[in-house]
Amino acid sequence: MAGCGIRAVRWGLESKAPDCVPVQLHVNDADADRRAFLEANLEAAALSAEVSTSPADQLLARAYLGGHFFDLIDVDAFGSPGALLQPVLQVLRFGGILLLASTDGRSPTGHDRRAAIRNLGSAARVHPASWEIALRQQLGLLARQAWLLGRGIQPLLSFSEGRTFRLAVRFHRQLQPLEEQCLGLVARCECCGAQDFQPLLKLSGWPPCYCPEGEGRWSVSGPLWIGPLQDQATLMALLADPWLVQSDAIATSSRRLLLRLVADHGIPPTVWPTAELAKRVGSSGPPPVNDLVQALRQKGHQASASGLMGGQIRTDADLPDLLQTCSALSRDRI
Ligand SMILES: C[S@@+](CC[C@H](N)C(=O)[O-])C[C@H]1O[C@@H](n2cnc3c(N)ncnc32)[C@H](O)[C@@H]1O
Ligand SMILES: [Zn+2]
Repeated sequence: MAGCGIRAVRWGLESKAPDCVPVQLHVNDADADRRAFLEANLEAAALSAEVSTSPADQLLARAYLGGHFFDLIDVDAFGSPGALLQPVLQVLRFGGILLLASTDGRSPTGHDRRAAIRNLGSAARVHPASWEIALRQQLGLLARQAWLLGRGIQPLLSFSEGRTFRLAVRFHRQLQPLEEQCLGLVARCECCGAQDFQPLLKLSGWPPCYCPEGEGRWSVSGPLWIGPLQDQATLMALLADPWLVQSDAIATSSRRLLLRLVADHGIPPTVWPTAELAKRVGSSGPPPVNDLVQALRQKGHQASASGLMGGQIRTDADLPDLLQTCSALSRDRI
């Protein structure tokens, strides 16, 4: 899914950085009309690559039959890439990395619930942390596909700008300890705003939410990935890479994104917009996320600013505690 080849050119050029091992690039896009353009772009960057114009499933099937394995596969798909996951994983080397993009925002975010069942095998309900939920749905599907092969996955990087949902995941020969605990359900009560989650391994009933007299109803999404979304060690190594530090190899906005993600590895999967919290406590405006993070940490809770969506807080505090903390902050600001 190389399109004009911009990503392939980048892989090729970055592999020329000092201390990088040389790479062999195989650049493919099913649209044969792009070939001349693709080859011209590679040539302009003085990169040699194998170029093909096969549908991805055919290319991957040929690689499988020929016993060819890839260290890194970059699937920059339009729509939902689920159908390609098995053939991709069959030719990804153990320890290799899959970069997976999806532009299907409707099914994982609860806006097309029937498509979510078809594309993801999962229930999807509307949730304010919609980009995060979409990434978790994609990871949940990927984990199940890898587990079918007896293999494990480790998310390295997950992010979105709301239109494309991007993952970088390491593929492991075996499941990590307790990896199955990372598949679960997340629940939210639209009425009172309570959130909860549980792993499928220990599935039990849901506790009552905070609505009076049992009026509330949980909207449940999943199965989806409830484990970490980022690997902090990988991101920190990236940020400390001397070549990245010294050069302008990544844009300032990308560096800022990495810094936000490194500070929020994605656990627990309960995330509230501060604007929603402010509205629920009747405050005129949302508290600064970092103030709320500090106040919750002082009370002994896990808390971080969501690295994925601005103005959202991730915490293990329950809703009454969260609202009370938010309310106290609003009073302090008056
Ligand atoms: C989102 S675009 C890729 C953009 C590209 N990576 C870039 O950065 O410029 C998706 C590409 O996938 C190609 N494509 C669509 N279905 C495909 C398939 N089944 N196999 C291979 N390529 C496919 C399309 O021709 C299109 O160029
Ligand atoms: Zn409720």
